[in-house]
Amino acid sequence: MHQDIEKTLLSSHQIQTRVAEVGLEIYRHYQRVSPDGKAQLTIVPILTGSMIFAADLIRHLPVRMKIRLVSISSYPGASTSSKGAHMQTELSGFASDLTGHHVLLIDDILDSGQTLKLASEQLSSFNPSSLTTCVLLRKNRPQAMSFKVDHVCFDIPDEFVVGYGLDFAGYYRNLPTISVLKPEVIRLHQAETDA
Ligand code: IMP
Ligand code: MG
Repeated sequence: MHQDIEKTLLSSHQIQTRVAEVGLEIYRHYQRVSPDGKAQLTIVPILTGSMIFAADLIRHLPVRMKIRLVSISSYPGASTSSKGAHMQTELSGFASDLTGHHVLLIDDILDSGQTLKLASEQLSSFNPSSLTTCVLLRKNRPQAMSFKVDHVCFDIPDEFVVGYGLDFAGYYRNLPTISVLKPEVIRLHQAETDA
């Protein structure tokens, strides 16, 4: 796996330090919203990319919470650009954990903004008390920078990255860093799948 990496943008240590900081930021926000800790909080990680980030982040949020998972796909197979976001989860059963609850939506990366836009719109239709968004990464491109998101851990260059939950063709999610693949690895895989 490591021989496929061209360069690493964020080390595991950098990620852990920043996730703890943002966790504290979010914790303080909910302490202000609900000083007695009685407000209902529901965390909604978007699968599959945010699973590792969400698992780390929620351990820095010592508040009473529920977790509901949604699955949205936008990069089918070996593509490295969005093909439009599609909700894969039937949300109708989620109402009891969304309506009147404070909802924290978590995603791995803000790229075109289609995924967060779709998720925000669909969750808002359940009339939550508040809807807060949090991403690990935001790409430095106009569509991402102009999209309103409440908490961002890192701004990164507009490159296709893998690791810490993010994949290429389903692989590399278990890499502990945020890294860029060698271009030949992407070319080779795309040539194999096109063949
Ligand atoms: P958006 O809908 O274009 O903002 O893209 C968001 C989704 O696409 C994220 O939830 C990721 O799953 C995926 N994605 C975007 N950029 C990358 C990347 O650089 N590497 C891996 N997945 C990405
Ligand atoms: Mg995703």
